[in-house]
Amino acid sequence: MAGKETVWQALEKVMDPELGKDLVSLGMVKDVKVEGTSALIEVALTTPACPLRSKIKEDVEREVLAADPGLTRVAVTFRGMTDDEKTTLAQKTGHTGWNNPFACTTTRIIAVGSGKGGVGKSTVTVNLAYALNAQGYRVGILDADVYGFSIPGLMGVSGQRPVIRDKSVYPIEREGVKMISIGNFIEGNQPVAWRGPMLSGLLEQFLRDVSWGSLDYLLIDMPPGTGDMALTLMQRLPEAYLVIVTTPQPAALSVAVRLGLLARESKLKNAGVIENMAYFTCENCSHRHYIFGHGEQAVADAAAELGVAVLGHIPFESEIRHGSDMGQPPALIRSPKADAYSEIARRLVEVTGQGRKKPLAH
Ligand SMILES: Nc1ncnc2c1ncn2[C@@H]1O[C@H](COP(=O)(O)OP(=O)(O)OP(=O)(O)O)[C@@H](O)[C@H]1O
Ligand SMILES: [Mg+2]
Repeated sequence: MAGKETVWQALEKVMDPELGKDLVSLGMVKDVKVEGTSALIEVALTTPACPLRSKIKEDVEREVLAADPGLTRVAVTFRGMTDDEKTTLAQKTGHTGWNNPFACTTTRIIAVGSGKGGVGKSTVTVNLAYALNAQGYRVGILDADVYGFSIPGLMGVSGQRPVIRDKSVYPIEREGVKMISIGNFIEGNQPVAWRGPMLSGLLEQFLRDVSWGSLDYLLIDMPPGTGDMALTLMQRLPEAYLVIVTTPQPAALSVAVRLGLLARESKLKNAGVIENMAYFTCENCSHRHYIFGHGEQAVADAAAELGVAVLGHIPFESEIRHGSDMGQPPALIRSPKADAYSEIARRLVEVTGQGRKKPLAH
C-alpha cells in the first residue's frame, strides 16, 4: 500500500544539484499527496524557470517509484518560492548572495574593475559591449559606479529615461546594447548622496527588477578601487567573472593585483587583465611611444600572479577619447580603432566559455 511516509523518505534521497542538500531538509517539498497509485508532489524552487527543474523532476520520479512498488505514477508540480521561503533557505544554506535572476541561465556576468581610478574601465566596458555585440552576443551593461556614473554619456544616451511598466524597468538600448544606470534616473548633473545600504539595494534592484530579456553577457562597470562598493559587489555577485583594467604604471598595476587577490577571496573568478593606454603611435613617424612606460612584462607578471591571461593591450588613441566624449565609442561605430576591443572580446568569450552555452551553477 503506497504511503505518504514512504514518499517523504524517498524525497530525502533527492539532492538539489546546486545546493548539494536534499529537497526535504532544504524545505523545498511543499506538499505530498497519495491518491490511489499516484503520488502528487509539490516542489518550490528559487527560480521557477530554472533548467535544473527537469533534473529534479527526473530524480524525484525515479526515487519515489523505486521506493514504493504500489505507485504507478508520480506527478511533480513546481512553483517559485515566496520571499520568506527564500530567506529561510538562505539561512539554512548560508547562501547570502543576491537572488540572482541569471543563476539558471547561460548569461555570463563580467565585472570590469580596476585598482586605480581613471584607467579606462568605463571606456573598456562600453567598447567591449559593442565588440561582443558585433560578434553576435546579446549584451547588457549595468553601471555600478553610482557616484561616478559615466556609461550614459559614453553610450550617448544621457537624459533618456528607462521605461517602467507593470513594476518592471526596461533598460535603455542603443544599437543592440542594453544599459541601466542611476544617471538615467536623476535630473541633470545632480550628485547621488546615498549611503552603503541604499546603494547595495539599488544594485540588487538593477540585477533583479530590470527586464534584461535574454542576455549572453552582462557587463558591470565597477567603481574604482577596493572600497565598500566594489567589495559589496564582489562578495554578493554570484558566479561572476572579474576583468581588471590597468595602465602600465607600477602604481596602477600593484593596486590592480590587490583587487584581483581580493576577488579570489570572494565569489568572483578572475577572467584576465587588460592593459589600457599601453602605447601611443605617432601619426607622423608611426613610431610607438610608451608614454606610461613599457608595461607588457609587468602586466604579464601581474596576470601570472593572479593565475590568469592578459586579455589584450589597448593603445592610447585620441579617437577613443574623442569618440567616448561624444557618445560614439569606436566599437559602436565599427571604427578600425576598435580592433583591440574585438580581439579582447574574442579572448573573453574563450575564457568564460560562452561558446559552450553551459548553464551556470551558483
Ligand atoms: N585607450 C584610450 N585612449 C585614449 N583615451 C582613453 C583610452 N581609454 C580611456 N581613455 C580616456 O581616459 C579617460 C578615463 O577613462 P574612463 O572614464 O573610461 O576611466 P575609468 O577607469 O572608468 O574612470 P573612473 O575610475 O573615474 O570610473 C576618459 O577621458 C577616456 O576617454
Ligand atoms: Mg568609470
